[in-house]
Amino acid sequence: MPEAPTTLPLPRPTTELCAVLLHPSAHTRSPAMHNAAFSALGLDAVFLAFDVPPDALGDALAGARALGVRQLAISIPHKQAVAKYCDELDETAHAIGAVNTITRVGDRLVGANTDWIGAVKALEREGPIEGADAVVLGAGGTARAVTYGLLREGARVTVLNRTQEKARALAAELGAQASGGLETLSELEHDVLVNTTSVGLREARSPVPAAALRAGSRVLDAVYDPAETILLRDARAAGATPIGGKWMLVLQAMEQIRLWTGKTPPGELLAAAFDRAT
Ligand code: ATR
Repeated sequence: MPEAPTTLPLPRPTTELCAVLLHPSAHTRSPAMHNAAFSALGLDAVFLAFDVPPDALGDALAGARALGVRQLAISIPHKQAVAKYCDELDETAHAIGAVNTITRVGDRLVGANTDWIGAVKALEREGPIEGADAVVLGAGGTARAVTYGLLREGARVTVLNRTQEKARALAAELGAQASGGLETLSELEHDVLVNTTSVGLREARSPVPAAALRAGSRVLDAVYDPAETILLRDARAAGATPIGGKWMLVLQAMEQIRLWTGKTPPGELLAAAFDRAT
């Protein structure tokens, strides 16, 4: 007899709605990860993706509020703009200046940021951060979260960016160092390197020359498509430990679910859902 196809249970009147808001939405793997987690935790909830252009963000938040949406993941390009629609920001969202998670607590929408936890835990899978010399490539929203996380865990952090003024502003605000453009990595000793630029996203290019990578270091690429970027391939060849952006996404999603439910779903299960969603 053929096996019955596996399907999610149909939504019920009690089913909670969660969603990711982003624009464009074609590449998101958040629904795959979150729905797998809901199923594993036995939660009566469903997670959808909504493509919300920037000029519709306020309406989307008003709609989510009216409908009692339980939790929202906030993705590109809304992470900074969405803060003003929250009733409250937690300490990390406030410090980072970006919100990637909004959880309804009673009738209040509370903004948080779990991106930094994803980066920190992805790196900590391979060793401690405290005392490390870390370099962050990029100075956008992801760089802010990663720099915040690394500093909080006790690393010394240098920020490099194509546009150096942005690196200097970010570093000054968060308490890191800024030393120059991406090409200056070769002048810096480092134990940890995190790429938060979009270089390498669906393209065969690295943000830094292979010769700048150090044996024995950890290299985390926030770019997750392709799974092995040129930066990660070069890192492996240089004797560094490559860490794919998948883990950053999986670990930040686990923290989102913990913020709402107090329960932590199994990471391997989310990682498998992420892989299947390609
Ligand atoms: P996110 O919110 O994901 O961090 P972002 O705020 O748009 O995205 O930041 C993108 C980062 O990628 C920036 O650091 C950007 O460098 P600039 O500040 O100089 O723009 C970096 N970036 C994008 N394209 C790049 C490229 N071709 N070369 C080098 N850096 C690039």
